[in-house]
Amino acid sequence: MTGNPRIGSAPGELPLLGHAVPFAKGPLDFLSSLPVHGDLVKIKLGPVSYHVLCDPALVHQVLVDDRTYDKGGAVYEQVRTVAGNGLATCVHRDHRRQRRLTQPAFHHDRLPGYARVMSSEITAMTESWTEGRKVDVLATMNELITNIVVRTLFAAHLDASTFKELRLCLHIVMTGMMRRMLMPWSFVNRIPTPGNRRFDQARSGLRRYVAQVVADYRRAGVDHGDLLSMLLAVRDENGQGLTDTEIHDQVFAFYLGGSETAAPSLAWSLYLLACDPLVRQRLHDEVDAVLDGRLAEYDDLPQLDLTRRVITETLRLHPPAWLLTRVTTKDTELAGQHLPIGSNVLYSPHIVQQRADLFPGPERFDPDRWLDDSTRLPPGAYTPFGGGARKCIGEVFGMTEATLALASVVAHWQFDPLPGAHARLTPRLSSTPRSLPMSMRKRRGA
Ligand code: HEM
Repeated sequence: MTGNPRIGSAPGELPLLGHAVPFAKGPLDFLSSLPVHGDLVKIKLGPVSYHVLCDPALVHQVLVDDRTYDKGGAVYEQVRTVAGNGLATCVHRDHRRQRRLTQPAFHHDRLPGYARVMSSEITAMTESWTEGRKVDVLATMNELITNIVVRTLFAAHLDASTFKELRLCLHIVMTGMMRRMLMPWSFVNRIPTPGNRRFDQARSGLRRYVAQVVADYRRAGVDHGDLLSMLLAVRDENGQGLTDTEIHDQVFAFYLGGSETAAPSLAWSLYLLACDPLVRQRLHDEVDAVLDGRLAEYDDLPQLDLTRRVITETLRLHPPAWLLTRVTTKDTELAGQHLPIGSNVLYSPHIVQQRADLFPGPERFDPDRWLDDSTRLPPGAYTPFGGGARKCIGEVFGMTEATLALASVVAHWQFDPLPGAHARLTPRLSSTPRSLPMSMRKRRGA
């Protein structure tokens, strides 16, 4: 933003619906179209107005001032009815204590242990693959990442049918949560339609399962080296630990936050690599030199430089968390515009990360744009993990699992898109393609 910020409104507003139609048809296209109308652009989804941040300086300003721009309002009320009051959903008042108590679970000392679980899950999965199969890469990566999240959270090995049931519940809850977030008329969610009933059942199933595991851990009282053991052990300055409800909500937050993010990023990475044989060849050269036929381990990470840049660039092009909101907790001013208390602010990493003035040739997949010192980017320009005090607590965890998984997979396997198959986006919480069918073959000489 140079000079005075530009304030605008999106064109094409309809009575009652506002911009709900273009948003529902193609949410990412609609959001990407907004910067031409201003740095701060007003849209309406049904009766609800949102101020959309289209400029990195405004994104930064909002993210670092989490007291004024808090999680709340109609959207988060909906999310809280599903996800509880965990770290990702709680308001500023509860956040500092929750963050302090949960941070040790992500301390870098614990990462090598989590990375061992990640590597063993990656080994189990890649060893089960066979030559020439056609797979839905998204479903495959979902399975891998959900396995990793569940095992690093609970250490437990789930039997196949419980695991399948859990994954289905998760899928239904995530899809339903997005619909509810964007549904301006909340009474619609209470009508006992088959979809709403399925959603309620899936939500209860997930909560019941988590409650059962927490109870089992409390009874056993052993440190399993996993996230849940850490959450049960932490104490605040008054010697108070997290209550059962708080633990329950944190487990839920980590489960949701950890599964719906890294999996689509990995699937997108494999897809983008398949569309760019030169970068793919360079990545093969890197993993061949570093791994020499083994699967990747924690100590390999510093040498997997291109692998990491591929993921960084994938997160720029396809940030999984593409729709995030805040609500003002007091009257304030943003970009010279008066925002009364209770105003909704919306930001999407997708908008700013597609700006040509910040990322030349923004539609191009170019991991080498991260060779230069990325700190030359203004604050707020690259935010796939959010920013400020609410920045993703699982950033290092997520980057570690994605780097280990991508390096291990491409060390032995090559994925190619099936003729005529395209990645299609669906408006869920993450910018997840519905499916990503690809063929897989073993790399010669790998
Ligand atoms: C590629 C991987 C990941 C991406 C792109 C990602 C993205 C994000 C983003 C954008 C936020 C901020 C949301 C906001 O501003 O409203 C966030 C917060 C959060 N993420 Fe992640 N995430 C990833 C991995 C993970 C993992 C692996 C976990 C847990 C195991 C996790 C748990 C959380 C939690 C609990 C928060 C809330 C933090 C707070 O408010 O203090 N995420 N994530």
